[in-house]
Amino acid sequence: MKILFVTPECAPYVKTGGLGDVSAALPATLAALGHDVHLLLPAYRGMKVSGEIGDGVDLPPWGPWPAAQLVPVKIANGVTLLLLTCPALYQRAGGPYVDASGRDYPDNALRFGLLSRVAADLGTVRSPLKGWMADVVHANDWPCGLAPLYLAQARTIPTREPTASSVITIHNLAFQGVFGMETADLLGVSHDRRGMDGVEFWGQLSMLKAGIQCADVITTVSPSYAREIQTPAHGVGFDGILRARSARLRGILNGIDTTLWNPATDPLLPRHFAPDKLDGKALCKTALQARLGLPQDRKAMVYAVVSRLTPQKGIDLVLGALPRLLAAGAQLIVLGQGDPGLQQALKDAAIKQPRQVSVTLGFDEGLAHLVEGGADVFLMPSRFEPCGLNQMYSQAYGTVPIVAPVGGLLDSVTDASADPQHGTGFIMTGCDPAGLDDAIARATRLFREPVKWKRLQANGMARHFGWEDSAMQYLEVYERARRLADGEPALPPVLAADPARPQGSRR
Ligand code: ADP
Ligand code: GLC
Repeated sequence: MKILFVTPECAPYVKTGGLGDVSAALPATLAALGHDVHLLLPAYRGMKVSGEIGDGVDLPPWGPWPAAQLVPVKIANGVTLLLLTCPALYQRAGGPYVDASGRDYPDNALRFGLLSRVAADLGTVRSPLKGWMADVVHANDWPCGLAPLYLAQARTIPTREPTASSVITIHNLAFQGVFGMETADLLGVSHDRRGMDGVEFWGQLSMLKAGIQCADVITTVSPSYAREIQTPAHGVGFDGILRARSARLRGILNGIDTTLWNPATDPLLPRHFAPDKLDGKALCKTALQARLGLPQDRKAMVYAVVSRLTPQKGIDLVLGALPRLLAAGAQLIVLGQGDPGLQQALKDAAIKQPRQVSVTLGFDEGLAHLVEGGADVFLMPSRFEPCGLNQMYSQAYGTVPIVAPVGGLLDSVTDASADPQHGTGFIMTGCDPAGLDDAIARATRLFREPVKWKRLQANGMARHFGWEDSAMQYLEVYERARRLADGEPALPPVLAADPARPQGSRR
């Protein structure tokens, strides 16, 4: 199958969160399964790409967009990277979405409109790559949301062009890509798609809504989140349209790249370890403490957070629990960046308790691996979590996760109190201070019983979180999208969100 995976970020070239990891691992797994995978990514400033570079294809100026180029690069994992090169739009100081001071670029509608436009063109007979037209265009999050709309428009113009089918994956429903409705003209959104059944969201244009309304299949990154986003509590205003399209909605749990995240081989760890040889983990713990200037105390329980610092991640709950953690003699390590208020509160805590709290503000891949290797407990009290990757990295690294009872956290952690035999972590009873305190108390009790703690670690390390199963599910989705694009009616039992009780749920 010819698959075009379009994304605004992909590790190791550009990453702000889990989407970067998923964009690296899923296409590579699909390519390893024998599929022809092209990955479309904007060429941002300072990106280092190595591989066999092919001839660039000129994309003449079109509509509101300046001239651009598509540069194919065959990368080592069998994927063809298509770098969308448009210096006027993508060569900027700052990140992929925001400038150096954290503000959205004012022309994001144009920047990601172009990404979506080119993605859609690659799925039509007008594909700029001679001889290559995608069978399926797999769009990710709001920055690619217009791609399914452009494909739907191409299908319905008088010529009824043959087009690729389209899939959109929602990695985070909170980011909706909302712009003034005047951008509809600019971006070429047809008049019949500007209403409530199209891109309109409270009088504005939402790129994510465009994708949800127009894609042949919608996926999200865990079965629990697929259920949650159809409820007012987690639907962020989109629950109605998601319920209306639930026959096309499916939750597929992300995997992790076990070649990068494997404690037995990870080059970013000072010592390697495995379930039956945990001495290496003890050495990682002291190396971590030493690197961050904390006392190298093996007995102190080390709690860790590696995260975007936003209200989503429940960092305020961690701050609330801190006095009790410190009173119990524990250490807290935080690596993250984001909300200035949370950054300041964390920094203040580190200044007040330098022997127990370490806060590193910034993005540091190497330190993230060392934290996973060295910590005892990983905290993820997220208010919502579409999937979450760190709880899976943690389990692979023998670091016991404490997680909120939401989304992909429920689908990937088994609670040790509910199932002592197979437990891999602790699921909070609620996403609130009492829920976190209770989970910390349960973890502390078990930490004092080394045999039981080791079993918990071993259970987590034995879990298989590789991408293969999920990639097979995406292939099913692509096939299904093809049939739906060809006019087959959507059949709720096949793709409706799985109503089974989430694994590991304590409720
Ligand atoms: P989200 O995508 O919501 O941020 P995920 O758990 O899916 O959450 O993925 C986050 C990814 O980003 C993980 O790979 C995590 O290790 C990484 N990450 C987050 N913050 C940092 C940071 N400050 N430094 C290094 N890696 C980070
Ligand atoms: C989002 C979500 C996170 C998920 C990641 C990759 O950023 O917040 O839960 O793991 O996307 O799908």
